[in-house]
Amino acid sequence: MTDTTKRTFESFGYEWNTFDEIREEDAEFARVYFRDLDLASLRGRIGLDAGCGKGRYTRFLAPHLARLVALDGSRAVEAAARNLAEYDNTFVVRADLCAAPFASESFGFISCLGVLHHLEDPRHGFHRLVELLAPGGVMLVYLYSRPEGPGARRVGLWLASALRTVTVRLPHRLLRAGSALVAGALSVLVVRPGAFGARRHIGVLAALPMAAYRGKPFRSLVLDTFDRLSAPVEHRYVWAELAPWFAEEGLEVRAAREEAGWFVVSGKRQPAEGPTAPAAAAGGHGDVEEQP
Ligand SMILES: C[S@@+](CC[C@H](N)C(=O)[O-])C[C@H]1O[C@@H](n2cnc3c(N)ncnc32)[C@H](O)[C@@H]1O
Repeated sequence: MTDTTKRTFESFGYEWNTFDEIREEDAEFARVYFRDLDLASLRGRIGLDAGCGKGRYTRFLAPHLARLVALDGSRAVEAAARNLAEYDNTFVVRADLCAAPFASESFGFISCLGVLHHLEDPRHGFHRLVELLAPGGVMLVYLYSRPEGPGARRVGLWLASALRTVTVRLPHRLLRAGSALVAGALSVLVVRPGAFGARRHIGVLAALPMAAYRGKPFRSLVLDTFDRLSAPVEHRYVWAELAPWFAEEGLEVRAAREEAGWFVVSGKRQPAEGPTAPAAAAGGHGDVEEQP
């Protein structure tokens, strides 16, 4: 394991065991994450949530799958095991997704939410996930996006990158306190004015970034600020950079949405479909039942 991967796991192990509780607002965020996914089509499949963290979104997937592996490389699995204890069909595994202890094509569904952009080589991690996906399988990934034009979000991301040059090296407890201060500033300067603008229809304020935090508890913002300032590696993408990943792996992109990040649902073709099969032919999502 490289030093960077080790630091990544230490950072998230601390994060998810510190902010380990399941929160009401997770349900609303989950709706955003799973909006493009036909959850009913997952019935009978074996799933993998790669980089599950404390399992806050794994919980929403578990009822739709026959079995679900919640995998994470960090001590976050301790929080995940607590939060997923009530789901008998869910198994928590600690492993690096690049060296996951599963045979190729084991899973009929894979989710990987907010994980690949923290890898030193995200493209390699993506390839490993595609190897684990069975023909007919469906994959949902969420990756950080990068704005292409100027604007408030671009400025904010530039500031965050500047801060990160220092914060990724800070002791986690100290950074946690610092994150509360930064989150306080963001709340006062961006989130609340944005919410006010949206209520009063003041376009310039309503257009401020971080709309997802309007009306959400402050602790949510502290958690995400810590997350952004602590993880040693952060990659960001425009679609022109991501689209080739799917094309090169022969995946059919079924939905690609940019909402402060890329939400992409894709499918792996059945062998009979061939590389040029029409998109509609892959619409059955494969019958990937439990495997022996
Ligand atoms: C930002 S968190 C997202 C957690 C969860 N998917 C969520 O959205 O709440 C990223 C997670 O990916 C895990 N992770 C990062 N690199 C990994 C790797 N190579 N293998 C397995 N897990 C990894 C981290 O430990 C962390 O829990």
